[in-house]
Amino acid sequence: MLTTPRLRLRLWRDEDLEPYAALNADPRVREFFPSVQTLQESTDSMQSIRDHWQRRGFGLWAVEVIGGAPFIGFIGLSVPSFDAPFTPCVELGYRLAFEHWGRGYATEGSRAAIGFGFSTIGLPEIVAMTAVDNERSRRVMERLGMTRNPADDFDHPNIGAGHRLQRHVLYRLTATEWKD
Ligand SMILES: CC(C)(COP(=O)(O)OP(=O)(O)OC[C@H]1O[C@@H](n2cnc3c(N)ncnc32)[C@H](O)[C@@H]1OP(=O)(O)O)[C@@H](O)C(=O)NCCC(=O)NCCS
Repeated sequence: MLTTPRLRLRLWRDEDLEPYAALNADPRVREFFPSVQTLQESTDSMQSIRDHWQRRGFGLWAVEVIGGAPFIGFIGLSVPSFDAPFTPCVELGYRLAFEHWGRGYATEGSRAAIGFGFSTIGLPEIVAMTAVDNERSRRVMERLGMTRNPADDFDHPNIGAGHRLQRHVLYRLTATEWKD
């Protein structure tokens, strides 16, 4: 578990499924994904997040606001399951319920997750990726000091050719850059 001034990043509980499924069914949260998710898809997604923790000893944390909402989404580190020129790698990811956007929670929680990745796990590099037009997500990456080289842009292998979300940007941050 990690704590920041306003957030607790913790392991998942069964009761997180209901608010997790609700945020995955929200078209505002899913604007830069191919579709909203059904309850079954959210159930499977939560299980695969828990499996990742079991297998790797790190993963996407469930996020709660200290003294506030018990579950607002996830922030954390994961190993992408697809092949690309930059894999294998460890990816920073975040997804918050719409009503919790615009408060700096994603950036605050991500700083703690990145610190864990570099200082506790000893990773040499953490990447982040999103659809080109997901400016909110890109602003989080930029606030964290991550940098994008356009030469790393790629077509996401799980999104069909010609789809509006296929083109992705990749941001990188090395342990040395983080510690400086
Ligand atoms: C990506 C996502 C987490 C970003 O959320 P966000 O609220 O924009 O990001 P943060 O939590 O870092 O908040 C930053 C914003 O809060 C504002 N803010 C308000 N109070 C703040 C505070 N106390 N501290 C810091 N920032 C604060 C900042 O000015 C900033 O707004 P700006 O970007 O318009 O300038 C959110 O849009 C989301 O969940 N999207 C859907 C899932 C998704 O696309 N994930 C990424 C795909 S890979």
